[in-house]
Amino acid sequence: MKKFPDGFLWGAAASAPQTEGAALIDGKAPTTWDKWFEMNPEKFYKGVGPKDTSNVYQQYAEDVQLMEDMSLNSYRTSISWARLLPDGKTLNQQAVDFYRNYFVSLIEKGVEPIINLFHFDMPWWLMEKGGWESRESVEDFGYYAKVAFEQFGDLVHRWTTFNEPIVHVECGYLFEFHYPAVVDFKRAVQVGYHTLMAHTQAVEEFRRGKHTGEIGIILNLTPVYSKSDAPEDIKAKDMADALNVKSFLDPVVLGHFPTELVQLLKENNLLPATETGDKEKLAQTTIDFLGVNYYQPKRVQAVNQPAVPAKMPSDLYAEYDWPEKKINPYRGWEIYPEALYDIAMRIKNDYKNIPWYVSENGMGVAEEERFVDEDGVIQDDYRIEFVQDHLAELHKAVEQGSHCFGYHMWTFVDCWSWLNGYRNRYGFYRVDIENDFKRTPKKSSFWMKTVIENNAID
Ligand code: BG6
Repeated sequence: MKKFPDGFLWGAAASAPQTEGAALIDGKAPTTWDKWFEMNPEKFYKGVGPKDTSNVYQQYAEDVQLMEDMSLNSYRTSISWARLLPDGKTLNQQAVDFYRNYFVSLIEKGVEPIINLFHFDMPWWLMEKGGWESRESVEDFGYYAKVAFEQFGDLVHRWTTFNEPIVHVECGYLFEFHYPAVVDFKRAVQVGYHTLMAHTQAVEEFRRGKHTGEIGIILNLTPVYSKSDAPEDIKAKDMADALNVKSFLDPVVLGHFPTELVQLLKENNLLPATETGDKEKLAQTTIDFLGVNYYQPKRVQAVNQPAVPAKMPSDLYAEYDWPEKKINPYRGWEIYPEALYDIAMRIKNDYKNIPWYVSENGMGVAEEERFVDEDGVIQDDYRIEFVQDHLAELHKAVEQGSHCFGYHMWTFVDCWSWLNGYRNRYGFYRVDIENDFKRTPKKSSFWMKTVIENNAID
């Protein structure tokens, strides 16, 4: 048996916009997702939009009971900014009541709520004034964070500011997967910069309010591997790493930007507008703990004909299709558990061995109903193997001193996922969206329960 440290957090992760449903009731204002769906429903897989997510707003008590049945000791979700402060200023008491009841019921079942503030769900009123492109978003986010800490600080002791901030930057401003779906490298960098400053503002509010507990951020630390040791491939890898990994990781943990990133942005006329005092604020707001989402690595090589200045990240490095890679055939993503070990050791060696946890890991499967047996249980042995292999790598790193304190799967009940809707299923529980959102356990939920109760894998 490979034992994990005492008190290890075992749980699952989700987000408000992907699970709550109730998109426009009880005072919640629209987000960019609600509006985008209204404008272009055909962009969303099978036309399923944000109002049809897993109905947690109504069914959270049932889910919390299932979490207890599965022996989970922690669960991460987010608060919806547009629900809590529909116009950015006025407190919505119905939202306060909902979240307080939800968090209390988790705590009563022995499940610690870890609460995130922003998971890609920009309120529409803020988008109308530029979203993260506007410097005002920093103050607005700070105010939202302050209100959340005041309303729920007695119940929540681990907070995170953002989930995968690089994703709303690249999906919204480079790759057209999120609203406003523009393609502009310079605007993307500005959005990333303001997001980071909004994070520092929230950390400052947390510490100023003398709230108990800890504050961190959740980053997708996609490790980058180069095609070869040739200097041009290594250079491509370093640029991809600076943009995708160090851009957020260095400032939040070390308190400053990596010099190679600043240099890279300078050379390509991409430096963002800043304000006096920003640097000092970064240095003073380093985090208490880190959440790491890991799904698959990034493999890169040098580009054939670099465009100077770069108009897109693809002018700086090219994706490389590693011939030996193992693929999840049901989602198309690479499966490479070894990267989790590499991440863990990098945090130990280069990032002060900061306490961290796996805040998301998981295996998406399209049309998962095809694996249902005659008893209605999805036989997801592929997911069991996936988790087992990742936990083995994690365990090795913990043995070697990496300060990892938990492992969360994406996700508990199948949930809605942006433009992909319900295409890729990740949950321990299947959700039947056509049948009152009925939850049915998958085989992996029984297997995981044993892992949790043993605090160990075989
Ligand atoms: C994670 C995000 O990166 O990937 C989630 O934090 C998302 O919000 C998950 O749902 C899975 O994505 P997809 O596209 O496979 O459904």
